[in-house]
Amino acid sequence: MDSAIIYVFSGTGNTKKICDLYKAEFEKSGVKTTLFELKGDLSSLPSPDDFDLVGFAYPIHGFNAPHIMLDLAKALPKRKNGDEKKYFVLKSSGEPLRTNDISSIKMRALLKRRGYRQFAEYHYVMPYNMIFRHTDDRATKMWRVAKALAPIEARETMDETPHMPKGVPFGAFIAWLFRIEQPAMRVNGKLFKVDKEKCVGCNKCVNSCPMGNITRDENGNFRFGGNCLMCTRCSFGCPTDAFDIALLNGWRVNGKYDFDYSGEAQPDKHARYCKKAYERYFAAAEQKIRCANRNNDVE
Ligand SMILES: Cc1cc2nc3c(=O)[nH]c(=O)nc-3n(C[C@H](O)[C@H](O)[C@H](O)COP(=O)(O)O)c2cc1C
Ligand code: SF4
Ligand code: SF4
Repeated sequence: MDSAIIYVFSGTGNTKKICDLYKAEFEKSGVKTTLFELKGDLSSLPSPDDFDLVGFAYPIHGFNAPHIMLDLAKALPKRKNGDEKKYFVLKSSGEPLRTNDISSIKMRALLKRRGYRQFAEYHYVMPYNMIFRHTDDRATKMWRVAKALAPIEARETMDETPHMPKGVPFGAFIAWLFRIEQPAMRVNGKLFKVDKEKCVGCNKCVNSCPMGNITRDENGNFRFGGNCLMCTRCSFGCPTDAFDIALLNGWRVNGKYDFDYSGEAQPDKHARYCKKAYERYFAAAEQKIRCANRNNDVE
């Protein structure tokens, strides 16, 4: 295997951080790796045919892949003569509920029709960029686990080891129900507002929106178009927290996480939220990491 590509969409950088870990591990094994970051315009995509290993990476939005991943699946060239191309999926999400396993169902069906077959899917829990703010303490733990786990799973991916999620009862139906979120986010995105008192006019939001959905005129007035993916890059990254994200404003999270927090344990008012699911995720990850380290010692 000489080359790999990961088509990645990442709103606020969590998924991209995981892809960077995969790229580093692939390249350690001599596999030249391209991370292709998706933006609104999918007209000039690199062809999967030019790579030995193909991956798709996204943050989970409402138990689904963001709409741009479905657009990507539709935009890829259809394969001919039953010549299937295998691919893997990486996903990040703020909580480790099993329901997140349904997120790739629609994309998988679209890709299957185009001649692509999924052989693996890996899930990394990273801090929420919407709903509530995890503590830096918790974000650091998530990142520490991901940093140890991703290289192990990247090696499994290079070996094309099968690793598919278990089915969830009525998964396709639940995913379909939650996809109502996608048109709703487009409408909601048009209703974003900026507090002019707080805005310092840095244009970071305008320049970083992956969909080119934000414009700002010479008087500092903002206009939000109808292409919002609700990735939260604009509101999360605003240096003065000047955004109002309309109906979802109560769930707004602003400002980077400190992934290297080393201070005292921080009080966590959300400590009981999905507690069992987080405990299961961390325990399974740590067991896999210990096991891989033991095997390395033996070799
Ligand atoms: C619109 C939206 C919907 C989300 N839905 C979910 C969800 O269903 N389950 C979940 O665990 N996290 C959810 N999240 C949290 C993100 O998946 C998580 O923070 C992810 O790591 C963000 O990755 P990114 O920085 O690459 O965009 C959602 C975030 C947004 C913005
Ligand atoms: S990122 Fe925030 S401060 Fe900068 S232009 Fe946008 S709204 Fe204003
Ligand atoms: S407007 Fe904001 S939330 Fe919507 S796609 Fe652009 S950066 Fe993402």
